[in-house]
Amino acid sequence: MQKKIIIANWKCNPISTKEGEKILFSLKESIKTENEVIICPPSVFLSHFLTLFSGIYSFGGQDCFFEEKGAYTGEISPKMLQSIGCKYVIVGHSERRTIFNETDKTINLKINRILNSTKLIPILCIGENREEREKNKTFAILKEQIKNALKGVAIGKAKKIIIAYEPIWAIGTGVYAEEKQIEEAKDYIAKILCDIYGSKTSKIIYGGSVDSKNIKQILGTTDMDGVLVGGSSLKPKEFSAIANYK
Ligand code: PGA
Repeated sequence: MQKKIIIANWKCNPISTKEGEKILFSLKESIKTENEVIICPPSVFLSHFLTLFSGIYSFGGQDCFFEEKGAYTGEISPKMLQSIGCKYVIVGHSERRTIFNETDKTINLKINRILNSTKLIPILCIGENREEREKNKTFAILKEQIKNALKGVAIGKAKKIIIAYEPIWAIGTGVYAEEKQIEEAKDYIAKILCDIYGSKTSKIIYGGSVDSKNIKQILGTTDMDGVLVGGSSLKPKEFSAIANYK
């Protein structure tokens, strides 16, 4: 059985260290798995959780900046995340793209900075919105997002990247993509990677309304390498059932 990548993206939740600790202690009791479980809490909690739970979970940032250091108020660099023990960092989440106006250009700068200055593994999020899907633009959007994000990334480094296919219409809506749609997107992403690098360099995972009820279907009937979980990752019962998938 191939090990899956199970990522918890807590977004801007919960509002205290105590609440976060409670979730992680509860998960510690119920997660029994060989899968790689990665927790991405708000960055302000990372150091504390890394001290308490390193060796139990891997940790990642939800975003990072594209410079290493300097006069950039409010930003956190990949090197800083690495220095506290993070192994992963999410880049280009659709909420960053839509709410914070993040562009393919800044995402590309971030990917290159991460790969060139740290050992962090970037989790690159891509995906179409509802309108784009209805207009049959899904593949065109995926192609554009991948090509732009990977500009200047050599094959050796591209192999480290995890690509998360997250259709925006499935995020936080309770409606997950059908297995056929997930498979089609995965095959298309693999094709783009082959066009660029000559092989499917990256692991490809799915995100969007994953829960304890649909996890078997999503991972059992597609050959995705894992899942990125938002809402359900804050509920210990839900998330442990997802993480324990085999
Ligand atoms: P969701 O979020 O599981 O709440 O749909 C997924 C994500 O935004 O990564």
